[in-house]
Amino acid sequence: MRVLLTGGAGYIGSHTALVLIERGHEVVLLDDFSNSSPEAVRRVEELTGARIPVIEADLADRSAAAAALEGVDFDAAIHFAGLKAVGESVVEPTRYYRVNIDSTLALLDLMRERGVTRLVFSSSATVYGDPEYVPVDEAHRAGVGLTNPYGWSKFMNEQIIRDAQAAWPRLGAVLLRYFNPVGAHPSGRIGEDPSGIPNNLMPFIAQVAVGKRERLSVFGDAYPTVDGTGVRDYIHVMDLAEGHAAALERIEAGVEVYNLGSGTGSSVLEVVRAFEEASGRPVPYAVAPARAGDVAEIAADPSRANARLRWRTTRSLADACRDAWTWQSANPDGYAA
Ligand code: NAD
Ligand code: WQD
Repeated sequence: MRVLLTGGAGYIGSHTALVLIERGHEVVLLDDFSNSSPEAVRRVEELTGARIPVIEADLADRSAAAAALEGVDFDAAIHFAGLKAVGESVVEPTRYYRVNIDSTLALLDLMRERGVTRLVFSSSATVYGDPEYVPVDEAHRAGVGLTNPYGWSKFMNEQIIRDAQAAWPRLGAVLLRYFNPVGAHPSGRIGEDPSGIPNNLMPFIAQVAVGKRERLSVFGDAYPTVDGTGVRDYIHVMDLAEGHAAALERIEAGVEVYNLGSGTGSSVLEVVRAFEEASGRPVPYAVAPARAGDVAEIAADPSRANARLRWRTTRSLADACRDAWTWQSANPDGYAA
């Protein structure tokens, strides 16, 4: 297939581009580079030996995106493009809704105009809110009590895609609810390159280990969990990328939703210890107040994706820490260097 990857220069998009190329697909990337670097694409080209067409455009600007994509053919789209910083979404809700929703609307219109019937969408475990039970399966209620515009925008996008599919039954859409993506390609050539202070745990830990930051703040140690710190389901970004390929290769008309997670929860302190072991570096930390909007514990029940997509995770948290460390230590300033 020839696959359009919106936001394809980003963290998950770049790893997915690599996996798709290795599985024999062709990719075309569309990105405005608002949160990524052309260097990531260059490195995917270097790792795969493929030449990757890149269209620089703002997908939320419907006419600009349509003009930029004129004459560019594709059989399927994976829609990664969007803004993803939870805290920032609370401060700038209208920007988050505009970018995250307008880009999906533009892509859906464009696909329908062109008769492109396969869509994979980057959703998030955040749509489950504070879960009633763990591990959560796809039957768990979604869109209840979400605490930030980012999360709402994911839930709204899921609904928009369902409505678009109902109005155009040939469309086959897969909503992938990612748990916590971490790690990097084992080469250390591509990885997660957050701008400014990392919001997420693993990149923050990696910057502490490499000496860029003094210590980790552990957000809360009084949750009802194994050691009082928050528990999440960390999934290696290469496993996640393979999940996209599996979903893409099995799309049928209709809407399917899948959890992409490992099925195992790890606490903040377990991640700290795993990273120390993988890197051989100390990760000093101090306990800080809990972060607003955080849940105590969430993990995926990935059995639907395991069964129907014939996909499962094969990499451990230790593998993710090792690969994140390879990336971080070789690229202490990310792609900027
Ligand atoms: P990322 O920021 O690295 O990638 C997003 C890409 O989209 C970037 O390259 C950015 O430049 C691009 N982009 C943003 N706005 C755009 C626009 N208007 N037009 C064109 N391109 C635009 O983020 P990521 O971690 O790779 O996440 C990819 C997708 O997965 C996002 O939709 C995100 O919300 C979702 N997701 C991420 C996580 C996570 O923890 N990383 C978890 C669940 C879901
Ligand atoms: C993980 C754990 C923190 C940073 C977010 C989004 C979610 C999804 C993935 C996009 C929690 C703790 C963190 C730190 C800490 N993104 N922590 N110190 O919050 O599970 O999920 O990213 O869809 O929607 O909400 O991930 O990596 O921020 O936090 O103690 O400096 O680490 O409290 O328990 P989170 P995270």
